Amino acid sequence: MNQIKVFSPATVANLSCGYDILGLCLEHIGDEITVRKIKKKGIYIRKMKGFDLPLDAKKNAAGASALALLKKLDIDFGFEIDIFKIVKPGSGIGSSASSAAGSVVAINHLLGNPFSKKQLIQFAMEGERAACGSAIADNVSPAILGGFTLVKSANPLDILSLPTPKDLFVVILHPQIEIKTNDSRKILPNKILLTDSVKQSANLGSFVSALYESDYDLLSRSLHDIIVEPYRSKLIPYFKDVKQISIQNGSLGCGISGSGPSIFSICKGAVIAKKIAREISVFYDTTSIKFHTFITKVNTTGVRIKQ
Ligand code: HSE
Repeated sequence: MNQIKVFSPATVANLSCGYDILGLCLEHIGDEITVRKIKKKGIYIRKMKGFDLPLDAKKNAAGASALALLKKLDIDFGFEIDIFKIVKPGSGIGSSASSAAGSVVAINHLLGNPFSKKQLIQFAMEGERAACGSAIADNVSPAILGGFTLVKSANPLDILSLPTPKDLFVVILHPQIEIKTNDSRKILPNKILLTDSVKQSANLGSFVSALYESDYDLLSRSLHDIIVEPYRSKLIPYFKDVKQISIQNGSLGCGISGSGPSIFSICKGAVIAKKIAREISVFYDTTSIKFHTFITKVNTTGVRIKQ
């Protein structure tokens, strides 16, 4: 086999109570990445469709993660990558992560899977570093492992997979503005109050318990962000309105997806998900900002081989 195509999913990081720690994998939106084995050594981005991103492999998330993988091998051939980018850069739903994860899963498959998923996460983190300046693990982990993940430690890497309650749906509202992860990180304080840390830790702990117990009520009581959201929500037009409408219509919790501007709403069942999507769309239509909304289940498999 010399060529492979993968679907590499979008993700939601942070999930309100777990800044840089929690993430979940989405089902219906992701990049399509084709990797081909070639005679020439190295990694080459051959095609980039959808969005205008660097073709220089070192500066491209898919290329940089692939180069990190290649460094661990002694091989006399290389790979070229075609990227059909669906996940908009600067959207907050793990755009760089989906490319970074897709290329390494594809190459690993072509090589007969010499690397573990944990090693692939480590390589994909280098894609994140190239794209946003920080080797964050909370988007690439769910993109590769699927489901909910928790970054116990980024260095040394220790990632935990968490259970997915079966009735969970995610509604995403994506205002068509761009927020660069790097900028969105810079506005956060370096220090936080001990009392805030206590509250946020309690929510994170109860969130994990809620996933294990499929306790939707506890999940709802845990989905709060008292540390990051107060700063970042200022960058997202009408965030508070969207959150209020989501909660009024039955959302278990609503917050900023990753570094924004996308807003996620987690809910139980398709009926409530559709109602929330409808109501927030009706509201956002009254603003002058273009947006997309979509509903998805949690993707429990991560990057998927297409052919
Ligand atoms: N945890 C990261 C952040 C995710 O919030 O900056 C970036 O999408």
